[in-house]
Amino acid sequence: MAEEQLTAPSSDEASGKRGIHGAWSSRWTFVMAATGSAVGLGNIWKFPYIAGENGGGAFVLVYLICILLVGMPVMVAEVMLGRRGRQSPINAMRYLTQEAGLHGAWNAIGWLGVTAGLMILSYYAVIAGWALYYIGQMASGTFQGASADQAGVVFGQLLSSPKELIFWQSIFMLLTMAVVVGGVTRGLGVAVRILMPLLFVLLVILLGFSIQRGDFARGFSFLFSFNFEALTWAGVLEAMGHAFFTLSLGMGAIMAYGAYMPDHARIGRTVLAVGFLDTLVALLAGLAIFPIVFANPTIEPGAGPGLMFVSLPVAFGNMAGGLLFGSIFFVLVTLAAWSSAISLIEPAVAFLIESKGFNRITANLLLGGLAWSVGLGSVLSFNVWADVTLAGFNFFEFMDFLTSSVMLPLTGLFIALFVGWLMKPEAVRSELMDESSGVFTAWRWILRYISPAAVLVVFVMGVYKTFS
Ligand code: TRP
Repeated sequence: MAEEQLTAPSSDEASGKRGIHGAWSSRWTFVMAATGSAVGLGNIWKFPYIAGENGGGAFVLVYLICILLVGMPVMVAEVMLGRRGRQSPINAMRYLTQEAGLHGAWNAIGWLGVTAGLMILSYYAVIAGWALYYIGQMASGTFQGASADQAGVVFGQLLSSPKELIFWQSIFMLLTMAVVVGGVTRGLGVAVRILMPLLFVLLVILLGFSIQRGDFARGFSFLFSFNFEALTWAGVLEAMGHAFFTLSLGMGAIMAYGAYMPDHARIGRTVLAVGFLDTLVALLAGLAIFPIVFANPTIEPGAGPGLMFVSLPVAFGNMAGGLLFGSIFFVLVTLAAWSSAISLIEPAVAFLIESKGFNRITANLLLGGLAWSVGLGSVLSFNVWADVTLAGFNFFEFMDFLTSSVMLPLTGLFIALFVGWLMKPEAVRSELMDESSGVFTAWRWILRYISPAAVLVVFVMGVYKTFS
């Protein structure tokens, strides 16, 4: 197939810089990388607890609908933009904006995305640090026979110690930078090809443990029986916001990864694979966690963010073989967070290399250092700064709200509008040549009408609910 020849708006844009970061060695590596980005704390830590808080089954159904109607169409759009732009999200958007003859303000898509990525990374590393700390705690028997109160004390002690938190946050940041320094092909590509299968194996082992030792029937019916009574409007909004977060949409991670995708890989099928795997992991994580939670009568499924760091260790600590499997569980969480974190920093790294002539090492040190420093604010918000709030949020909550509830949906909305309404349909079609015209038409229609409307509702209602 002949590659479409683009007339680059200024000689060194796009075509001249094609592929300076390298490329995935195959379509499969792209699937692994995008799945690695998507599967993270969102799937294992957040999804089970928000499903728990919203009563289970009905919430899960709404979440699945959101993945299909908003998540997947926007993901196709992001991969498509990245591959056509062939650069970091900022430069890709600069090029595509010019190609479409639009005002430079649309470049904001790239800038918002790259900034949101670093902001998410700043607190993501802190939470991933907790998981690292818990590997050692599980393995050394801290939770052997522990009561919920005792587990709460362990968690509380960790949160109250800035030194401990900073130590684990730093280790996690170093792990992340170590991979990204290696570059696309030999760093990220190799890491995801090892991490993702390993993660899958660990998850299946845990599932086996939970089927054998947990209350599987109750866990299963909790996740899959439709109790619509328990679902509120706020829960619907949460499901939608989470669809963005869990698929890594709205910040250029997937756009940056799309830029490293082989020219002739079929985007539609690839995105379906990523969405399927991400959803599968979220559901399997739920199926591994709830039976273990229900096996211990003192624990509530709606325990909130503490579900993973308080309830689960108690449950593991009171089961035969629980310490080993508990350690495996936190290794799993760490690996999942690791393969997500590399996608949070890569877009900015690629930008500094392209536009400022940095090498990968300097770019990583600078951006990793920046995210680490901002992360100190989140560290302190769990102890020294616990009472310092802005609009009712402490620093960590503010960063989480600003990114997940504001920047991701807004960027997602702009992307849907840009691709659905502003890019020339022929340009869009030429990147999606392999899709049948029926599939293409249906996708474009959803992207033009359904996705923006849904995101707009989420955004307005989300902000309204939060401040009222
Ligand atoms: N999707 C990841 C998770 O579920 C988090 C993540 C990685 C992310 N990259 C992202 C979220 C980009 C939003 C945007 O944990």
